[in-house]
Amino acid sequence: MKSLCLILVVLLALSGSFGVDRNNFKSCDQSGFCKRLRAFKPERSQYVADFSTQMLHDNMFFLDVNMVDLESEKRTVLFRYVLKVSGLVDNTFRVEMEEVNPLYPRYITLLALKDSPIGDNLKVISKKDGKLTLANTKGHRVVITADPLKIEFLDKNGEVAVVFNENSLMHVEPLVTKQERTDENGEIIPEEEGTWGENFKSHHDSKPRGNEAISLDIGFPDADHVYGIPEHTDKLALATTTSGEPYRLYNLDVFEYELDSRMAIYGAVPVLYAHGLKRTVGVFWHNSAETWVDVANIADGTVVSSLVNLVTGGQKRRVDTRFMSESGLIDVFIFMGDSPSDVFRQYTRLTGAAPIPPKFSLAYHQCRWNYVDEADVRGVDDNFDTHDIPADVIWLDIEYTDRKKYFTWDVEKFPHPAQMVANLTAKGRKLVVIIDPHIKREAGYFLHEDATEKGYYVKDKDGKDYEGWCWPGSSSYLDFFNPEATRYYSERYKFENFPGTNKDVHIWNDMNEPSVFNGPEITMPKDCRHWKEPQEGVEGIASYWEHRHIHNEYGLWNIRATHQGMLDRSDKKYRPFILTRSAFAGTQRYAAVWTGDNAAEWGFLAASVPMCLSLGIAGISFCGSDVGGFFKYPEAELMTRWYQAGAFQPFFRAHSHIETKRREPWLYEPATTALIRDANRRRYALIDFWYTLFYEHSRDGLPVMRPLFQEFPKEEATFTIDDQYLLGDKLLVRPVVTAAATSVQVYFPGGDTNTLWYDVDSYQPRVANGYANIDVNIAKIPVYQRGGSIIPRKERVRRSSQLMADDPYTLVVTLDANNTATGSLYIDDGETYEYKKKKYIYAKFSYTTEEMTYTFVNDKATYPTLSWVERIVIAGIKVPPKTAKLHQGDKQVALQMTLHRGNDVLVVRKPAATMAQPWKITFSY
Ligand SMILES: *[C@@H]1O[C@H](CO)[C@@H](O)[C@H](O)[C@H]1NC(C)=O
Ligand SMILES: *[C@@H]1O[C@H](CO)[C@@H](O)[C@H](O)[C@H]1NC(C)=O
Repeated sequence: MKSLCLILVVLLALSGSFGVDRNNFKSCDQSGFCKRLRAFKPERSQYVADFSTQMLHDNMFFLDVNMVDLESEKRTVLFRYVLKVSGLVDNTFRVEMEEVNPLYPRYITLLALKDSPIGDNLKVISKKDGKLTLANTKGHRVVITADPLKIEFLDKNGEVAVVFNENSLMHVEPLVTKQERTDENGEIIPEEEGTWGENFKSHHDSKPRGNEAISLDIGFPDADHVYGIPEHTDKLALATTTSGEPYRLYNLDVFEYELDSRMAIYGAVPVLYAHGLKRTVGVFWHNSAETWVDVANIADGTVVSSLVNLVTGGQKRRVDTRFMSESGLIDVFIFMGDSPSDVFRQYTRLTGAAPIPPKFSLAYHQCRWNYVDEADVRGVDDNFDTHDIPADVIWLDIEYTDRKKYFTWDVEKFPHPAQMVANLTAKGRKLVVIIDPHIKREAGYFLHEDATEKGYYVKDKDGKDYEGWCWPGSSSYLDFFNPEATRYYSERYKFENFPGTNKDVHIWNDMNEPSVFNGPEITMPKDCRHWKEPQEGVEGIASYWEHRHIHNEYGLWNIRATHQGMLDRSDKKYRPFILTRSAFAGTQRYAAVWTGDNAAEWGFLAASVPMCLSLGIAGISFCGSDVGGFFKYPEAELMTRWYQAGAFQPFFRAHSHIETKRREPWLYEPATTALIRDANRRRYALIDFWYTLFYEHSRDGLPVMRPLFQEFPKEEATFTIDDQYLLGDKLLVRPVVTAAATSVQVYFPGGDTNTLWYDVDSYQPRVANGYANIDVNIAKIPVYQRGGSIIPRKERVRRSSQLMADDPYTLVVTLDANNTATGSLYIDDGETYEYKKKKYIYAKFSYTTEEMTYTFVNDKATYPTLSWVERIVIAGIKVPPKTAKLHQGDKQVALQMTLHRGNDVLVVRKPAATMAQPWKITFSY
């Protein structure tokens, strides 16, 4: 079986035919609960609220809900549930529903939330005609209809913004014990096939708890589109799924994944947003089990059910969704918006924003499977200098280890890792090495022996150490649910335990879906067992979690342990950088994410934009795709365009498959190398802009890479644009992602407010007016700076970002129609946590025709930067000033200015103001 699987993989790779083998992955029909629930379409919901049980305590409201037998005259109560509605700060509600006295607890996702949500008081404001109304302190209401149960969330205008169970698809499969059940006549009720076991291909899932799935329909009146639930390869705006597969959320290592697909891939973030002209709202489905999501957008002309038509009453705008999970409980956060920025923030408020990354990680990364030995690493490192291309990080994939035993080195090929690292750091460069969660089962390997002896591995369905097949061959998987296993794993990152590493060696956690080559759907069997806190008298199925409950969260447990280990190894002094492939809600608190094993095809380059936009609005801003494509070889034009696109995406790393031709930038024709050099230099020139964006993200939780509708929520044309985006609110980026392009369509948003967009190459302004055709040659990257913004640049390009730390700034000011502009800048040491002790500068720039100022937002915080301003470029000048004078401290200096282009670009030469203190430049006319 094992060898068969590998042979298959090899055959596929050799045959040259590219594409996913769909047979390896389940369709909804092959996933028992998805098939069951999708077929479940009752005319009327069996769930009925019992208002007599109502209870309110601070921000929490409780109510019993009964599942009744609608056929029986007395409406016999079949199962009882308790419904909990919480009011939370920042216009957020939470709804939970679980059995009263469940047979055993259902799993509640443990790591997605950053902290316990903060309550906002709720009160009952009315109860009549079978409806009960709750209100939070911000004027949002929750209207609960008793029979059948329906829950509506009303915006400040009293309009329904989100509605649960309007289509009667709420369901919580009751937990039952495996014993024969009889009806009132004593007849045995046959179990539905698959209840106590399911098969997929040659795999059997023993399902010791039987069926425990949940389902809920969530409607969004007035919505034009819904977004979110990454990770998929299709468009940012989600498609109607009525006549096809639902969107699937199940972290999987999908070999040669396909484009334009709703298939599950590596990550699963169950947050969904609905946007329309009226409002933006969102829901976060707090569940780590396999989940499928159906979408029906009324505007697509899809008849969902007669009921929906009744409900919408001919309304044109509405999107209905339905979440189905294999296990867990109904636990949903509702974000009341009301703008896109509000809902994105409301989500990161719960699950956290990415902390400020170490600065180098925002620069360029060079990876390959594999740089084969120390000489290879040295050669690559040197070649960046020889070809004058900046780079910050060299990466080592799995081959650096002693035969795939993590935390070891192949001593033949890497005999001097410490010296190799020292050679990199001498140039301000870093090393990233891979550490996967599968552990080679080899006698004598310390990690395997310790984990076996101490019981740190995930167990199979019978309680023995689970054995799967991955890169090392026979492998077992650490069970991070066991706090001892997590502590043990974290300690492996100590410098003394991982010789050759130091603070400049960072970590890549790959294969953490987890990938199991011979497992069902190339992952871990769902009936594997995870550790659970032992409890007196609790045994059997209640004494462990099944992998099915936690699957999508496994990678998050993995990177959390890595993160802890990297903090501890330096006594919490340095910020870790971690890259993960598996992703879940909350991943952003620990790691960056890349879109996995893509291919050197134009389609994958194009897909990198919507994929990262979708991850970005789901909290994961630090996102990128393998530049050049992982599988296959990118010819010069594709490679050039990919570098140009990657230079403007948050995580910028080239990577390639071991069987592809080498493709470092200097291996192309000199003209191509020059274009790649130019793209990388553009990245480095903007390194402090990126760093400032990530600082601001850490504070406000807003995406760094933004869909246009976030900034222009009332402009309908932006709702479906996903081939261009904004960086912060300042740069508009439209990468060229097609072959032989001589022009591209660029949408310039903000026409109704006379927004100006300045081409960053020419400073040519353009008044926003929707789509325009822009000529592009191979050197052109269509990037536009918004009128009214100020962006800091560093134009003395060096070998690495660290060597640029003290370099002077060029400030680019692009004026809006009112001749004003603002911007910001964040500076700290780039690698420690000293910023928490106020050792940083966060400054605002402001330009008016009279003056330009640089002021500290927090005047108690400061950082002794050596950087200064060497140039200010002001584009869009209508009347040039006659004189300019710098004021800093006691100093006043007259400055020189020159005019350029059609006299609308003013350059203030060498203001020489230090950035360590505020300054002001006054202009006179
Ligand atoms: C480090 O650099 C020195 C000087 O260039 C070189 O001799 C040595 O081989 C390098 N070591 C490694 C491990 O790359
Ligand atoms: C210009 O200023 C006016 C008045 O303050 C304001 O309403 C308008 O939005 C501004 N325009 C731009 C493009 O910023």
